[in-house]
Amino acid sequence: MAQTVLVSGGAGFIGSHVTVELIQAGYDVIVADNMSNCDKTCLLGARKITGRKIPFFKVDFCNRNAVERLFQANKIEAVIHFAAFKAVGESVEQPVMYYRNNLDSFLNIIDVARTHGCRNILFSSSATVYGQPEELPVTEESPRQEATSPYGNTKQICEDILRDSVKAYGNVRGIALRYFNPIGAHPSALIGELPRGVPNNLVPFITQTAIGKRECLSIFGNDYPTPDGTCLRDYIDIVDLAKAHVCAVSRMMEDKMKEPYEIFNIGTGRPVSVLELVNAFQKVNGIKLNYRFAPRRPGDVTAVWADPSKANKELGWKAERPVEETLRAAWNWEKYIAKK
Ligand code: UFG
Repeated sequence: MAQTVLVSGGAGFIGSHVTVELIQAGYDVIVADNMSNCDKTCLLGARKITGRKIPFFKVDFCNRNAVERLFQANKIEAVIHFAAFKAVGESVEQPVMYYRNNLDSFLNIIDVARTHGCRNILFSSSATVYGQPEELPVTEESPRQEATSPYGNTKQICEDILRDSVKAYGNVRGIALRYFNPIGAHPSALIGELPRGVPNNLVPFITQTAIGKRECLSIFGNDYPTPDGTCLRDYIDIVDLAKAHVCAVSRMMEDKMKEPYEIFNIGTGRPVSVLELVNAFQKVNGIKLNYRFAPRRPGDVTAVWADPSKANKELGWKAERPVEETLRAAWNWEKYIAKK
């Protein structure tokens, strides 16, 4: 019988792609989400891609009783936790809301999972924990820096909660995946990123500008100490990223972990500048994008990219999709949404 994975936040951008890859790898998936930052588009898209009636539960993970009921009603072998608030700027304005939501939900999951005999917990962390690293690329051993936003701090604290829980409770093991910059959409264009309001992230802003929803893309800063003056990031394709979760889940389930708590960088290992990404988008999609250079955005780091060799070696995972394909998928998704 297939093993069952609970995906919290499974109706969102990353969660829906992970759901699809898990199902295609032979797992049963239960999606639970409070739908606070998404609609049903990606859940329905995931059902269409997989041809499966993926069970869905509307659950707020901050509600411990609701989490209890979820674990009572289902035999869950692993949890992948995505359900969290994720807007950096908003977290600075509403710290209590961010700490309460992002920490309470994870504490409930760990507590309830372990009391129901579910040993395997995967946490979606972020390269934000590295801040501006002194040495690039960053390895998992690179020091974490003090978080510059409550959002970033919740990622660090949740990593610590998982590490300490694994240490204290013999029946729990955990993996934290530190994502670099996830972008793109499923090649089917049936699932993708659906930001509410004005997008904070670069690629949704690019695609919304291309389709005419936004007038002009602002490139934040062209005076950084980088080859073309714009920031450098490690843009990781969303399907590649999703596949890393399948590798991590099977590593946990098949007892292949070297330590009961492990951390992996999930990136390509290649730095790409904002301008390079904008130019690549224009080229592959044959679109002239309206953009201008604007002042630096407060809080942005100059450059960060991964050393993904630990994930390559230990998880047997590697980023594969060329960035051109990723940007084509992002554009196809934007067009699909515009027609809906
Ligand atoms: N950028 C622009 N114009 C935009 C949006 C972004 O020029 O309209 C630039 C940013 O200045 C940055 C790059 O594009 O140089 C990438 O920006 P994103 O907002 O897409 O991504 P970040 O690297 O800022 O964000 C990532 C993660 C977050 C995390 C954050 C912490 O996506 O989850 O790092 O720094 F919190």
